[in-house]
Amino acid sequence: GKGTYDHFMLKEIHEQPTSLSQAIEGRIDPAGGRIALADFEPGTFADVDSVQFVACGTSYHAALYGSLALNQAGVQSTALLANEYSVSAPPIDDDTLVIAVTQSGETADTLTALRRAASEGAATLTLTNVVGSTAAREADDALFIRAGPEIGVAATKTFSSQAVMLTLLAQRIAADLRGEPPADLEALLPELESMPAAIDDVLAGSAAKTVARRYSDSEAYFFIGRGLGYPVALEGALKFKEITYEHAEGFASGELKHGPLALVTPETPVFAIFTGQEDEKTLKNAEEAQTRGAPVIAVCPDDHPAVEVADDHLPIPDTEPDLAGLLANVQLQLVSYHAADLLGRPIDKPRNLAKSVTVE
Ligand code: M6R
Repeated sequence: GKGTYDHFMLKEIHEQPTSLSQAIEGRIDPAGGRIALADFEPGTFADVDSVQFVACGTSYHAALYGSLALNQAGVQSTALLANEYSVSAPPIDDDTLVIAVTQSGETADTLTALRRAASEGAATLTLTNVVGSTAAREADDALFIRAGPEIGVAATKTFSSQAVMLTLLAQRIAADLRGEPPADLEALLPELESMPAAIDDVLAGSAAKTVARRYSDSEAYFFIGRGLGYPVALEGALKFKEITYEHAEGFASGELKHGPLALVTPETPVFAIFTGQEDEKTLKNAEEAQTRGAPVIAVCPDDHPAVEVADDHLPIPDTEPDLAGLLANVQLQLVSYHAADLLGRPIDKPRNLAKSVTVE
């Protein structure tokens, strides 16, 4: 049941320290300076020359996160919407690895893309929460996120675990390809290990409810981020629209000035996500919105320059750029939850949506 929580979504948001501990348990080895994915022999990915991700919705945002992490580790990769894959898949060969990211393992669009990739000769891997699911059974390999059951239609803890597992996998693939661990792995491992504690900090001190209340009369809600903050901006907006029924959009920070800025008014708060990747540019983009009257809510560490500029601040602990966006995402999950709660929405079962979408 929901225990002391009013909704499964809030319970599942609060389960993230535990679900993430389960995800990484035995899979990182800070002392040995490596990723220990026992599921895969060392060198498994040595021949992979490109990675394609296929996924939908929130899982697509996790896939985009993983794909950017791979690119940053020097591995060629793209994330594709599974429902677009049959008409626009990039070329595949024997050394293409196609990774399906699907919490349920039963999403029809994702299964279709996975089957197409396999029929064209790609190696396939499914990242999922459900052991025995169709996608887990059909792919060559499966990697499980061990998040435990997620009842709320809005994906929360599964997103965090998917993104963290893809961060691990990206490091592993890069290490196999090069024959040695990526240079930044040493700094990343202890930060990965302390993610559950960092999420606890976010949950304990969150100002999300106050922020949600302050902006509850707005016309639309915008989310901007750059680099690994971009998929988080998309996910922040999806969660917000899905459970509040309010208009929300996520943008790459630098895109704001290429069109969306025309929508910006004092009635459109802008949530700006800072991950430590060209933050000065993101801050400038946020200020461009602020100049047009939009309140800016900075999601960043306490000592960040954005705090001085922003109208509000949702703090996150200091960490590596590979992980900062995932802490920001927890703040945004809470903002969406409280905004929806203030509006009296049926948070665990938003209208028109299903937990698992088994039609194309
Ligand atoms: O089970 P899957 O991860 O394949 O589901 C894909 C999407 O339907 C899903 O992520 C959806 O976008 C979320 N429930 C939204 O919160």
